[in-house]
Amino acid sequence: MRWIDTLEAAAAEKLPEPVHRYFRQGSAGGITAGEAVAAWGSYRFRPHILTDVSAVDLRTTVLGTPLDVPVMVAPTTLQRQADPAGERAMAEGVAAANSLLGVSSNAGTTFADIGAVGAPWWLQIYVVKNRDVTLKMLDKAVEGGARAVVLTADTPVVGRKEDDGPTIWEVIPPEHLLANLDEDEYEADDLGKADDLTPDVIGWLAERTGLPVVVKGVLRGDDAKRCADAGAAGVIVSNHGGRQLDGAISTARALPEVAEALSGSSTELYVDGGIRRGEHVLAALALGARAIFVGRPALWALTVSGSAGVTRLIGDLGVELEHAMRLIGVPELASLSPDLVER
Ligand code: FNR
Repeated sequence: MRWIDTLEAAAAEKLPEPVHRYFRQGSAGGITAGEAVAAWGSYRFRPHILTDVSAVDLRTTVLGTPLDVPVMVAPTTLQRQADPAGERAMAEGVAAANSLLGVSSNAGTTFADIGAVGAPWWLQIYVVKNRDVTLKMLDKAVEGGARAVVLTADTPVVGRKEDDGPTIWEVIPPEHLLANLDEDEYEADDLGKADDLTPDVIGWLAERTGLPVVVKGVLRGDDAKRCADAGAAGVIVSNHGGRQLDGAISTARALPEVAEALSGSSTELYVDGGIRRGEHVLAALALGARAIFVGRPALWALTVSGSAGVTRLIGDLGVELEHAMRLIGVPELASLSPDLVER
């Protein structure tokens, strides 16, 4: 059996049940979470033959940061439940793979400690009702060396989860969630998600941090254009792993429209959600993504094998991608194009 496919079951053996449930679950009826992987598998390729694929190059850059493989780790919370060293272990695994790490606003490790590992990282921000609290977190991320701010824009409220059994909030220690705010820096009410955001927030974040802003949660071409027009340096086609609006379109299906809307713009395009195989990465890149993110697979890999597991996950996806690029007859990432995918 393929190692990546063994990870979730192996992680389930090690994790407390509510944590495993939290990592895997989608919102509401679980429709969007449930169809994410299959949506990538529903694409069919139109390969070239008789091209020289003796040397395949997987290297790329994201906002100027070099990657060995166009696979990055999505921001997820509760990494200290997966591994005692949490985000530090995730960052070590990412560093060894020469990749890049998304770090959640709800990290259980300080940004200074994550930054000290040396992996390039982007801060994922939930802008909250009390903007001063958001600014405090942004300042700490800038100090910790974040290279970009990822604005999660699909969460004006947190998607409803339908739990049987104790929820994660009943079992985890609070310090696993908010290591980057001191207790005296906020009141409970401050942390409600801002539900009045407009594209102006992109310029505000860029100005306050001096960093490029990437908008996460884009599922439509017109919204991608609004983000680009407001100054976004990148957008991530994402439905939050099916954890926000249930029934939201799969990212595999949303990507082509977004890529079309951004064609000719300098805004970089990434995608996440259900990407589990080299062939899925290939489809994403051919349809216009510059690189992809994995969320749950990185949590499973971290649980099962710590930082080495994360490194192996990224490496294995790279090996599969390289193989698939040979078979599709395209040796460099820049030459992957939508005509390679049947639409
Ligand atoms: C997430 N995701 C997420 N996104 C975000 O912007 N901030 C966050 O704190 C979290 N936390 C989080 C926790 C867990 C347990 C999961 C599974 C996901 C969403 C994440 O960044 C990403 O969009 C999806 O996980 C991608 O889908 P896959 O790869 O998990 O299918």
